[in-house]
Amino acid sequence: MTSHACRGKCTGLLWGFFLMAILTYLLLYIKLTNRNTPKHHMTAYWLQWIAFMDSKKINSAFDSSNNESSKFNDSINCISQNLTTEILDLCQKSERGATDNGFIPFNKFEYPLEIDMNDLVSNLKTAKNVSIKPIFSYPYTFVKSPTWMCEYRDVRLLILVKSGVSHFKRREMIRYTWGNYTESGVVTLFLLGSTPHVMFQRRILQEHHHYGDILQMSFFDAYYNNTLKTVGGIKWARNHCNQSKFVLFTDDDFYIATELLLKYIENMQRFERTSVYRGAMWKRGRPIRNELNKWYISRQDYPFDHYPDFVAAGFMLMSIDFVIDLDLAIPYTKKFIFDDVFISIVAYKLHVQPSHMNSVHINKFPYNREGFRQIIASHGYDRTSTLQQAWWIHQNRHLHKSGRKSIRAYSVRAT
Ligand SMILES: *[C@@H]1O[C@H](CO)[C@@H](O)[C@H](O)[C@H]1NC(C)=O
Ligand SMILES: *[C@@H]1O[C@H](CO)[C@@H](O)[C@H](O)[C@H]1NC(C)=O
Ligand SMILES: *[C@@H]1O[C@H](CO)[C@@H](O)[C@H](O)[C@H]1NC(C)=O
Ligand SMILES: *[C@@H]1O[C@H](CO)[C@@H](O)[C@H](O)[C@H]1NC(C)=O
Ligand SMILES: *[C@@H]1O[C@H](CO)[C@@H](O)[C@H](O)[C@H]1NC(C)=O
Ligand SMILES: *[C@@H]1O[C@H](CO)[C@@H](O)[C@H](O)[C@H]1NC(C)=O
Ligand SMILES: *[C@@H]1O[C@H](CO)[C@@H](O)[C@H](O)[C@H]1NC(C)=O
Repeated sequence: MTSHACRGKCTGLLWGFFLMAILTYLLLYIKLTNRNTPKHHMTAYWLQWIAFMDSKKINSAFDSSNNESSKFNDSINCISQNLTTEILDLCQKSERGATDNGFIPFNKFEYPLEIDMNDLVSNLKTAKNVSIKPIFSYPYTFVKSPTWMCEYRDVRLLILVKSGVSHFKRREMIRYTWGNYTESGVVTLFLLGSTPHVMFQRRILQEHHHYGDILQMSFFDAYYNNTLKTVGGIKWARNHCNQSKFVLFTDDDFYIATELLLKYIENMQRFERTSVYRGAMWKRGRPIRNELNKWYISRQDYPFDHYPDFVAAGFMLMSIDFVIDLDLAIPYTKKFIFDDVFISIVAYKLHVQPSHMNSVHINKFPYNREGFRQIIASHGYDRTSTLQQAWWIHQNRHLHKSGRKSIRAYSVRAT
């Protein structure tokens, strides 16, 4: 009786479960594939983020430590913050005021060459005889240099996208979305290093033949050569595109609202801003001393307890006067492995302060229409589909009609 009664109901139930399982799977799949970065990248990001938040906590705890009504007891500040062991270690050392075993406090910052950088730069500009010898040699050449991109053209903004040699699809999608602004006086070029991979190089040459927007340099393309890439970009901008008032350095996994950025720049020009160095600013960022971390830096290479305030590498907006000064000062500054920190060190020596842009996000901005009306940039768009989606939301387009068509058109072109 019971088994008979169950048969009808149970098949229904089973089907129900089956459908639910499929639905859940689909939902999870959509959610997971919308995730921004590959795993190893994410982990590194999280570690950096945690360290950043922790350093903020430590700083705020220290700032309030002189305050009588502060709820923190000085000697337990570090413990009560639930810090990672590494940060806890730093925290306790600074708490004891130790510099012997800890790191040198930033107010004692020194970095080769110890010279008056502004003085040097103005001497170099006036072609005075400078006897100081450069310490950062840049023997690399431009394998592909599309100098015509800036010639005879009214350029308002030069966008240099640091891209990996094998990221063909990302470049294609950028050209198709936020990079397609040539008529508005925007020149977008992709900065690449070299590759021993013959097939890759062949495809890059084809790509360049087709679009003419590849700026390839002779050093080996690798994450830890990003400083060489940025320095090469600075050189090129100064020598071949200095009529552009602004230069933006960005990465190929960034979403950028080009016309909002142009508005932002227009506004700055109205106030004749000089020495512009802007983006998502990291105040008093702490060097990471964990050897497993992507951003590990040894005590020998950087002995101070924090970096100069810097603008995160994925979005560095600079005015051309600053770019020119950087290009002149860089040969006289010791190379540093992370390009954003390196720029901040040179900027510090030139007495140029970075400033923060609220509309630049170093984490992935969630898709919502209101938000996309205001943000200028967001990181984490390494999948061509998510970049396209973000772009459509930004343009307030509907996904169902023209969207599908363009996706198909795109996938035909990219393969
Ligand atoms: C001390 O901290 C309290 C609460 O955190 C704050 O209201 C007060 O202004 C602080 N005093 C000083 C001198 O910083
Ligand atoms: C702070 O904490 C230490 C140890 O936890 C304790 O010995 C000291 O009395 C505390 N100081 C104050 C002002 O509460
Ligand atoms: C620290 O971590 C422990 C366990 O992980 C938790 O119980 C505690 O509430 C945390 N304290 C703070 C201040 O976050
Ligand atoms: C520049 O200075 C160096 C030594 O300081 C000297 O050898 C050289 O001749 C000078 N060059 C010019 C053009 O004055
Ligand atoms: C760029 O936009 C124009 C229209 O504004 C369009 O005709 C062209 O096909 C676009 N280029 C790419 C690469 O999508
Ligand atoms: C950076 O480029 C130089 C020159 O091509 C190369 O010798 C070096 O191995 C590269 N660095 C990394 C980390 O790949
Ligand atoms: C600007 O670019 C032109 C070539 O386009 C070059 O001759 C000039 O020296 C550059 N200016 C500076 C300050 O580098």
